[in-house]
Amino acid sequence: MSMAPNNTRSNTVTAVKPNKWSSAVKIFHWGSVLLLIVVWGMITLHKGSSAGDTYLDLHRAFGVSLLFWMIARVISRIVSPTPASVPMPKWQTAVSHLTHLLLYVLLFAMPLSGILMTWYGGRSIDMFGLFQLPSILATDRGQARFFNNLHTDVIWPTLLVFTALHILGALQHQFIKKDNIMSRIK
Ligand code: HEM
Ligand code: HEM
Repeated sequence: MSMAPNNTRSNTVTAVKPNKWSSAVKIFHWGSVLLLIVVWGMITLHKGSSAGDTYLDLHRAFGVSLLFWMIARVISRIVSPTPASVPMPKWQTAVSHLTHLLLYVLLFAMPLSGILMTWYGGRSIDMFGLFQLPSILATDRGQARFFNNLHTDVIWPTLLVFTALHILGALQHQFIKKDNIMSRIK
């Protein structure tokens, strides 16, 4: 027979980890960045224009889209292989992992608080004129105000701070440490 001889060492060999994220993780990462920019762009246009609720409606619809995108992203992240970790001091690994985890949490908290403020305000969410997401909550001005404050004064500034930290970290790796970290997510 031409079968390879039974090699006892092969039982102890573990699979080699890839050094890049899977294509799905990459697409979800950059897709989230793009959606986030669009969501922010719509609220900025809304605040600077007198076009009624057009941009605010788009802000809500793209925000809800980001929530669905994030659900798919987490599923894809769970089923994708994790690449070998980047060599760096333990505390830096801890800070980067905590930042990533927090960014995931914030990218859920942002649209959820938006949905809650809208529904507590007694309004439906218009999804690009295609269909509505009607409120499933009893109208409550106090709760609407609470989630509005959470959305705009707490979660949003926190997201900005950790996104800045994340980008600074990536730039530090790319241009100071020169370990080509971008190739993992490009
Ligand atoms: C110019 C902007 C950005 C750059 C250059 C960048 C770069 C990167 C890089 C290089 C990684 C991979 C790190 C590794 O392999 O360990 C990564 C992962 C990640 N990025 Fe970004 N990123 C950017 C924007 C954002 C934004 C805006 C968010 C969310 C608000 C974000 C959320 C994440 C998360 C959650 C991960 C972790 C992936 C995981 O472990 O599942 N990134 N990013
Ligand atoms: C990741 C998703 C989201 C992000 C990053 C985001 C971000 C923001 C930002 C930056 C503001 C402006 C804060 C300010 O006044 O300076 C805002 C306002 C607002 N957002 Fe969102 N949002 C998201 C999702 C949603 C969703 C899903 C809804 C509703 C379904 C929503 C409803 C609103 C409303 C109604 C306002 C106006 C609040 C006011 O003027 O008092 N947002 N959002």
